[in-house]
Amino acid sequence: MAEKVYVVWNNKGGVGKSTIVFNLAARYAERYPERQILVLDLCPQTNSTMMLLGGGTGMRG
Ligand SMILES: Nc1ncnc2c1ncn2[C@@H]1O[C@H](COP(=O)(O)OP(=O)(O)OP(=O)(O)O)[C@@H](O)[C@H]1O
Ligand SMILES: [Mg+2]
Repeated sequence: MAEKVYVVWNNKGGVGKSTIVFNLAARYAERYPERQILVLDLCPQTNSTMMLLGGGTGMRG
């Protein structure tokens, strides 16, 4: 089976990239529990990673 790869990128800050990555991965895992899902978080803020690990977004306010 061919693997699917999704890339989320936008030059503008604060437009929802990390939130979309988290929700895409979470919903995909929910829908296809038999599949393994790898999230590569290339952002130094690592907000998506923190969301996936349950540690919040790391953002203040
Ligand atoms: N669909 C949405 N509706 C309302 N608020 C949203 C939505 N998506 C994201 N947000 C909120 O907008 C803010 C920025 O979202 P997020 O951190 O995902 O953006 P980002 O593009 O990853 O930011 P950065 O450029 O800093 O990495 C957060 O407070 C998040 O909760
Ligand atoms: Mg982000």
